[in-house]
Amino acid sequence: MSNFDVSGKLAVVTGAAGGIGMAVCRQLGGAGAVIALVDIDEKTLAIGKAELDSLGIKAQTFLGSAAIEADVVRIYKEIHASMGVPDILVNNAAQGIHTAPQDTTVEEWDRVMDTSLKGYFLNAREFSRLVLAAKMPGAVVNISSIAGSSAIGRGNFAYSVSKGGVNQLTKELAIEWATAKIRVNAIQPCSVNTPGWRRWVETEGEKARILMVRLLEGIPLGRVAEPEDIANAVHFLASDAAAMITGTILPVDGGNLAFNAGGNLGNY
Ligand SMILES: NC(=O)c1ccc[n+]([C@@H]2O[C@H](COP(=O)([O-])OP(=O)(O)OC[C@H]3O[C@@H](n4cnc5c(N)ncnc54)[C@H](O)[C@@H]3O)[C@@H](O)[C@H]2O)c1
Repeated sequence: MSNFDVSGKLAVVTGAAGGIGMAVCRQLGGAGAVIALVDIDEKTLAIGKAELDSLGIKAQTFLGSAAIEADVVRIYKEIHASMGVPDILVNNAAQGIHTAPQDTTVEEWDRVMDTSLKGYFLNAREFSRLVLAAKMPGAVVNISSIAGSSAIGRGNFAYSVSKGGVNQLTKELAIEWATAKIRVNAIQPCSVNTPGWRRWVETEGEKARILMVRLLEGIPLGRVAEPEDIANAVHFLASDAAAMITGTILPVDGGNLAFNAGGNLGNY
């Protein structure tokens, strides 16, 4: 049997109804996992569930906010009661804003941190309580961003800081839970061609078209990521194929983070 096989494993995916979330659900479900989809958007959650049903993937939906402790605690109780002890957590729900640091309000800062950092902690905590109590191994994959370790500018301040926090949370949890055989890793995507990202490109118009040229110049492989690129990496890190990997922050960015802004792509 392939080390990539996740048959019968239960995977919790937060922000499951979004672009990357659904790609992860399709990928893990296609490799045999049963999926617990968690999201705050009831309508898209139902659409996502219907799609997984049509693909023959076993899944249940759980409505609530990753940012609210009471919701997260309730959701893990419900998951445990109806689906069992989870094996895999994909921390994916996040929210960003585009505001200059000097104009950022505490409400905006809190909104970003609550979902994109505190939510990752709360989900990891509730997941670990079930896994530790069952004395089972586990795998957590945190969806970070290249913004977590290089500065983007353009008002991504609070979002980038939250992703920097996700990177450090990943390393700390990997060390805390290594002896319990819960592996914790993160993925750093560059821009990903999701519906939300495409909406942003469309609403920004000419500004986005100019930015896109610059964005692509910074990605040595010459394209933005597809949601499936991220889902493939999640699948690897969640599976036994990555049994010796924990505390890793893996860029899935076409070489973006490796490429110095003053560098050249092979021509002297
Ligand atoms: N799309 C990109 O270009 C890109 C690049 C780098 C990193 N990322 C990261 O990938 C992850 C997914 O991004 P995406 O592009 O698929 O986003 P998306 O906007 O398509 O989906 C996000 C999903 O999260 C849900 N959500 C938002 N707040 C929530 C909350 N408090 N509780 C539960 N669910 C909530 C939304 O309803 C939505 O379904 C995020 O962590 C994001 O930071 C995305």
